[in-house]
Amino acid sequence: MARLFIPGPISVPESTLVAMHREMIGHRGKEFSEVFANCAQGLKKVFYTNNRVLISTSSGSGLMEGAIRNCVKDKENVLMCSCGAFGRKWFDIAKACGKNTELFEISPGKGFRKEELEEKLKEKKYAAVCVTHNETSTGVMNQIEELAPVVKKHGAFFLVDAVSSMGGAKIEVDKIGIDVCITSSQKCFALPPGLSFASVSEGVLNKAKGISERGFYFDFVELAKEYDTNQTPYTPAVGLFFGLKERLEVMNAEGMENIWKRHEKLASITQNWARGNGMSLFAEEKYRSNTVTCIENTKKVNLEEVKKKVKAKGYVMDAGYRKMNEELLKQGKNETFRIPHMGPLTVEELNKYLEVLASEMGL
Ligand SMILES: Cc1ncc(COP(=O)(O)O)c(C=O)c1O
Repeated sequence: MARLFIPGPISVPESTLVAMHREMIGHRGKEFSEVFANCAQGLKKVFYTNNRVLISTSSGSGLMEGAIRNCVKDKENVLMCSCGAFGRKWFDIAKACGKNTELFEISPGKGFRKEELEEKLKEKKYAAVCVTHNETSTGVMNQIEELAPVVKKHGAFFLVDAVSSMGGAKIEVDKIGIDVCITSSQKCFALPPGLSFASVSEGVLNKAKGISERGFYFDFVELAKEYDTNQTPYTPAVGLFFGLKERLEVMNAEGMENIWKRHEKLASITQNWARGNGMSLFAEEKYRSNTVTCIENTKKVNLEEVKKKVKAKGYVMDAGYRKMNEELLKQGKNETFRIPHMGPLTVEELNKYLEVLASEMGL
């Protein structure tokens, strides 16, 4: 079996696969409610929040749509801060929901400064400001703790896409003041795709109750109501809940502070490996991700060829975010590739992969 070194889904640990390999149970019974309650408590610890962390049977994009529908009324404005492909996707989602959405875009590789956000927010009243915490396409990690006070000052909800960082990088939801913080199961949680989680503030829930067009499947009010009885409105991916319970126990045993430190170390090893092999990092300094490193293919190695060779050695590598690479090549710049370092990855496992990659890239 090949180990996944793509930025999600990542490989699921054996112990989690074992936890999920069991007989199905009905989701309206006591047994499921107990598993749900366990997961709900565990998620609060990962998110550092006293808010509910809603659990949705969908990928993260579903809750990104939900966040827009539950936080923004039809005539209100949304500001979409985008520094890459996933900021763009959230912009497309908000537009598709029919909201007045403004794209506030900066060049790929750059992170948002609080000063530029402050200037932008002076222009008009926004009901919500959306930021991608960890832009998976570029390896940029935005400093949301600096952006949050600016958003609060202007009276908007702060919505954060932490799909590829929650559970790996330090995000203390309540301390930062995030109204909706979204993540997916297939990234730092090392579960199969299919579940997503969103912490939701009381302020958001109160407002959502007054929004008649908030939709159905991702109705936060309904999800919260069922959550309070350890249930879900519709049939959940029961098998994945068994996996989630196990993963949260393992994460809790390691401790979030240790998990954050390990990810910092993995990022620093990967960055040093790239620089040490004469390659540049795509994300600007101070905004480099702890969960995925994006590297410029400075040496113009044939990445597709390397991918094949690496596969023969038991790894699935990433050859960059395709659309962004096409754009970079058009502009005469270097394409990029990414090395994810998220989930229960050890330093030894990462070093082994980097050794194989270096050898197959001819570095
Ligand atoms: C930063 C970011 N946001 C959003 C998404 C979309 O999440 P999902 O694929 O779980 O819908 C992804 C997926 O890779 C992502 O990396």
